[in-house]
Amino acid sequence: MSQPVYPVPANWAADALIDEAKYQALYRRSVDDPDGFWREEAKRLDWIKPFTKVKETSFHEADFGIRWFGDGSLNLSANCLDRHLGTRGDQVAILWEPDSPDGPARRITYRELHEQVCRFANLLRSRGVGKGDRVTIYLPMVPEAAVAMLACARIGAIHSIVFAGFSPEALAGRIQDCDSRVVLTADEGLRGGKAIPLMANVDAALAHAPGVETVIVLAHTGANVVMRDGRDVDWAEGVEGQSPDCAPEEMGAEDPLFILYTSGSTGKPKGVLHTTGGYSVWASMTHEYVFDYRPGQIFWCAADVGWVTGHTYVVYGPLLNGGTTVMFEGVPNYPDPSRFWQIVDKFQVEIFYGAPTALRALMREGDEWVARTSRKSLRLLGSVGEPINPEAWEWYYRVVGEARCPIVDTWWQTETGGATMTPLPGATALKPGAASWPMFGVRPLLLDAEGQILEGAAEGSLVIADSWPGQMRTVWGDHERFFQTYFTTYKGYYFTGDGCRRDEDGYYWITGRIDDVINVSGHRMGTAEIESALVAHSKVAEAAVVGMPHAIKGQGIYAYVTTNAEVEPDEALRAELVKWVRTEIGPIATPDVIQFTPALPKTRSGKIMRRILRKIAENDTGNLGDTSTLADPGVVDHLLANRPQVE
Ligand code: PRX
Repeated sequence: MSQPVYPVPANWAADALIDEAKYQALYRRSVDDPDGFWREEAKRLDWIKPFTKVKETSFHEADFGIRWFGDGSLNLSANCLDRHLGTRGDQVAILWEPDSPDGPARRITYRELHEQVCRFANLLRSRGVGKGDRVTIYLPMVPEAAVAMLACARIGAIHSIVFAGFSPEALAGRIQDCDSRVVLTADEGLRGGKAIPLMANVDAALAHAPGVETVIVLAHTGANVVMRDGRDVDWAEGVEGQSPDCAPEEMGAEDPLFILYTSGSTGKPKGVLHTTGGYSVWASMTHEYVFDYRPGQIFWCAADVGWVTGHTYVVYGPLLNGGTTVMFEGVPNYPDPSRFWQIVDKFQVEIFYGAPTALRALMREGDEWVARTSRKSLRLLGSVGEPINPEAWEWYYRVVGEARCPIVDTWWQTETGGATMTPLPGATALKPGAASWPMFGVRPLLLDAEGQILEGAAEGSLVIADSWPGQMRTVWGDHERFFQTYFTTYKGYYFTGDGCRRDEDGYYWITGRIDDVINVSGHRMGTAEIESALVAHSKVAEAAVVGMPHAIKGQGIYAYVTTNAEVEPDEALRAELVKWVRTEIGPIATPDVIQFTPALPKTRSGKIMRRILRKIAENDTGNLGDTSTLADPGVVDHLLANRPQVE
């Protein structure tokens, strides 16, 4: 079947920052002369001390290292705020929409944001926070989350944001891993009309993380919370009386900026570390080119700041570029499935960037919810976080964008800092579902199982051959794990963990994870993490978790569980285990299916045959492949006979 292709609209080709010829020329230069290309791009920032060195990187064990602009210095907060004050001090920097449409929206200008950041940075300093200290942020989607990030960047503290949907256990693990002494939170968060007890979660987490000395608490809903003397500080009281000036700390380009925990195929979540100079150049450049962004345009990235998309495209990219960024506290379908598009109309949003999972959920509700809004302000749409299926793409294009707005389907990862493969709206003819073309400086390769490079139209493992400025620099506290995880599967290359196809026209299509990571509603989960949560339950002997296709979430969570000998599995236990995983990790890890089984299919050497478990979960049981190495083939028959009915 031939793929539809949507050519670049004439007005886009004429007016865009980058047309196809320019893309080709810039891309060539970015890989042929990276030093020259990035020296130019780095001019988008104000440097305190100009760099003389640009790219000092190697993916090989002998001289492994990643440094960009290594001898330069700068401050990211000053780049996001101070330098805009002269020209756009009164422009709105953050447009905030609360969970409920009845609540008042907030409009914060660059001047006001600068003042709030300085006061909060001074509060942090007064609590002893300085350069290199880790600050854990566990806040809802409120402007104070951006204030907190920028205040950390201002004084050189390293922020580690933990998504406010994570459980106290998950929060405690992340606080301890990076040894934060300060936690920022709110009394409660609000999502879809439901309150989330953030302060209570922090209290519970700190029982396992005794090193925390200061908790700064934002009164957001006004709920009653117990404040502990000496430890807890009320946000508003704390900033009162702080000076509205705060000199930005001079940061080396390679000084750490933030840690963000993400799931991998093994072990506990990794603290992905990004540094100051390279990340800032990458955030600003990708935000400008991918979204064809001009200062002052109303830009809405509907991600939470708890994920990397929120870091780069809610806060840093737009503010570096003098933008107006929309922050939305709520969810797409509350109070009704028109909510996103009503906000688009309310704020006259020009660029909307969201996740396929939300689009699929809204698509199911029918076109009427979209049609009753205007959306005339929209000129560009974006997609991120997971593969977008062609049906959802077409719906987004035709119903939401009324066939007027190009869609940029941006492929990237927490590790890559910002969009790494994507169409550009003025340059790329669109193929629904294709991540399309590499961003400047990115050299994707497809490898076969033996590590041979595949040429032309082909499908294989996606690796990146050379470094780009937005690349993560290390796993917090475990540099060896960084090297082992990303650079040893295929020696000398960065391994993405994704499978990918390249078509006859050279377009890249991400086919999904090829490791034991699953993508649930655009949220990345390690199957190993969910398994360890399950086996931590006293009635569980063994567990194996795989992904299954899910109409809305993209992938759902399918868990095979073997109980201890004396336990009779029943519905009550199923419910108990679902609740247990939610408590251990958070609601995003809720298993969709739990299948009890007396044993898991294993090879004679005791290895779980996940391939078979995946096939059963996918209900693709016609051909289970080679089962001759199974220690006990009867296990598979039992699994097939007892597979729960899944919608
Ligand atoms: O499998 C890819 C998928 O999400 C993974 C990265 O997840 P995370 O680090 O949480 O970052 C998500 C936000 C950038 C990737 O390895 N992914 C992300 N974007 C796309 C995608 N898969 C297909 N198409 C995309 N546009």
